Amino acid sequence: MLTCLLVTCLVILTLAYIYKRLLKDAAKYADIPAVSYRIPFIGNVFPLSQTHQILTQWAKVYGPIFRFSLFREEIVVLNDYDSIHEALVVRGSDFAGRPRMRRTDYQNRNKNSIVWQSYTPKLKFLRKQIHSSLRMYGAGLDKLQNRCYAEIDKLLSHVESYDGKPFDPWPLLYNSASNIMLDLTIGLSLTHDGKEMTNLKEINELFNHSFGPGTSRILDQLPMFNFLQNEYKELKKALDLRDKFWMDHRTNCDKTGTNVDCIISDLQKLSSDVKHTLYDLTEDTLKETFTNLILAGTDTTATALTCLLLVLTRYPDVQDKIQEELDRTIMTSRAPALSDRGSVPYLEACLLETLRFISHVPLAVPHSTICDSMICGKRIPKDTTIYINLWALHHDEFWTNPWKFDPQRFLDTDGHLVPAHHVCRKRLLAFGAGRRVCLGETLAKNRLFLFSASLLKKYRFVRSDGDTIEDIDPQTRSRKPNH
Ligand code: HEM
Repeated sequence: MLTCLLVTCLVILTLAYIYKRLLKDAAKYADIPAVSYRIPFIGNVFPLSQTHQILTQWAKVYGPIFRFSLFREEIVVLNDYDSIHEALVVRGSDFAGRPRMRRTDYQNRNKNSIVWQSYTPKLKFLRKQIHSSLRMYGAGLDKLQNRCYAEIDKLLSHVESYDGKPFDPWPLLYNSASNIMLDLTIGLSLTHDGKEMTNLKEINELFNHSFGPGTSRILDQLPMFNFLQNEYKELKKALDLRDKFWMDHRTNCDKTGTNVDCIISDLQKLSSDVKHTLYDLTEDTLKETFTNLILAGTDTTATALTCLLLVLTRYPDVQDKIQEELDRTIMTSRAPALSDRGSVPYLEACLLETLRFISHVPLAVPHSTICDSMICGKRIPKDTTIYINLWALHHDEFWTNPWKFDPQRFLDTDGHLVPAHHVCRKRLLAFGAGRRVCLGETLAKNRLFLFSASLLKKYRFVRSDGDTIEDIDPQTRSRKPNH
């Protein structure tokens, strides 16, 4: 009898708690439509691995700004240009935070990382320093070009070694992109088929699994079940392997004294200056910065290049035009250079269209409000998680026939690349915008150009004999790297 009474009381209290929470959330988010059919404590149920596509479908039902719930978290999703531009640019500082996540709290990564740190003075300082270390101007660009040439030479001889037989370009492009990032961060270059490159690839994959927008989100919500989950084991393994890689190679940048030209070496010098004590530039900060740059700078570029080549096998007329343009503007005897970018608008348009078409960072990185704010007249409370749906933005009705690969969108009637303020360029936000815009945007664009121009100047890419896939559709086929 007593047990029965206790259970009844417990049920009533639980229901009262849920009801109170629902009322509180409803009042806080009264301006934002909520996706219906929430299950108490669980929220909206949907296949997490297809999050960006589900959110895009929901936007058609609930409008460009809506919210859904994942366990106890209320997430606001922005799906159109007006709301995304207002959040990232007009009210950029209000929306520049990152949500607290157990996965990033783990080992204090949220206090040391660039990607996962909220909008703190330390984050601003790190962003500024890395920008200046990357030196994407003047002599810095020449250096980047030479670093890329070394990798492009290796890549071309690998391609040559296949002697026209079918091959998967992904691992080759991945190794090249990875080596450039290693060189820029700690001045290291690995052999493509060596054990250390395989280790790095494994670290990357493990981080991708445990940080993707998919099922790994559960790690943040049900920590008591972490020990049962593969993602948790993968995260732990990723961190252990990463620590070992870091210990084995971190000294690379100070091996030859203080003059090694790389990002971590620059940060290390700053960390010993008392002026910067405030920013707490510890060994963990150096390690996390290194991890962020390697992860963010490898998969994204290798995926974009692989997808471009795949697209060109399905759109041979586009490949013809790129090659005619390259033949016309760059003499056969020399390698494409960054200074050629202005003379090959068609290739530039193809690179922009690739980023739109595949939208391979479909939800950017989650943002969070650092104060109460507004979007398009709707109130958004402090500490709300915000998803920026770039996938929806890049495939909405503004883009006629959005699932067609059409570089013409970025060219004017004379075949010139439309200027940066043109509406199509403004609506292409593959690197985000504002305070948390991708730190590697210029680097990525330069590398995409040098690699694609070098490959397409020399080779024609065609489908292999057994390839029967008629069309490519990013809705079912793109690789989705994670930052
Ligand atoms: C095609 C290539 C790339 C694409 C499409 C891409 C896209 C993005 C996107 C969408 C974000 C999130 C922006 C936001 O939070 O709103 C981001 C962040 C970031 N990216 Fe990239 N990225 C690329 C290449 C790179 C490269 C080469 C680097 C290396 C330097 C890099 C470093 C970063 C970092 C450090 C952040 C976090 C910035 C922050 O949180 O403040 N990315 N990127």
